[in-house]
Amino acid sequence: MTTRRPFVGGNWKMHGDLARAVELTEDVSAAVASIAEAVDIEIYPPFPYLQAVGHALRGVGVAFGGQDCCPHLEGAYTGQTSPSMIADLGGNSVLVGHSERRHGLGETDDIVASKLRAGLAADLQVVLCVGETQAERDAGQAAEVVSRQVRAGFEGLDAAQARRIVIAYEPVWAIGTGVTATPADAQNAHASIRELLGSMYDAELAAAIRIIYGGSVKPGNAAELFAGPDVDGGLIGGASLKADDFAAICRAAMPS
Ligand code: 13P
Repeated sequence: MTTRRPFVGGNWKMHGDLARAVELTEDVSAAVASIAEAVDIEIYPPFPYLQAVGHALRGVGVAFGGQDCCPHLEGAYTGQTSPSMIADLGGNSVLVGHSERRHGLGETDDIVASKLRAGLAADLQVVLCVGETQAERDAGQAAEVVSRQVRAGFEGLDAAQARRIVIAYEPVWAIGTGVTATPADAQNAHASIRELLGSMYDAELAAAIRIIYGGSVKPGNAAELFAGPDVDGGLIGGASLKADDFAAICRAAMPS
């Protein structure tokens, strides 16, 4: 049986200022010191603070990455950030396809897929965010939507590339709303994604890929959400802005 190392990401979104970013990084580092041996812990600050956060994380077992990236490594793309620039600053990861970009900014599956490929080309680990909206869920289309998003992200990737992806299942209706999927809903969605990966690749690869849950994860519900056998940790928004809450969630992801 494959043992997957748990993964917890803190997506800070567009919050804070420089002083707060450094202070939060230091507080998180101290609070998760003993947990980072057993859990991959990543923080995703706003781009302007990446370098300062990277500096504050030197020698600490916490990694950092970008919340998004350009689908190109270099060129005339005003206002965009290359995944190689994230890597250049010491970042090791990038989020692509977050719902606030898919639905807030109109990013299509194709755009997300091209960002994913650019992230891999820059040697980053890529966290591919997927998830259905409330309307899609109400229409009984949740599984179909998630499956389409996963297929589009992995299309044409070989097994070595696929292994560098973490999937974040974030039902859109659960993001920032205080409403979470039930542990059974999360487990079922994750199991379906793993089954799909098995059909696209093979059982061994499907068993190796981490699938994390995002959407109103808090210290009080993290342990039950992470208890599902296919739930390998979480992508945390609001609660990642409080070091103690984020540490408690990381602790809940530790293997028992
Ligand atoms: P919340 O934890 O604030 O619901 O946000 C989840 C999220 O969007 C993480 O990427």
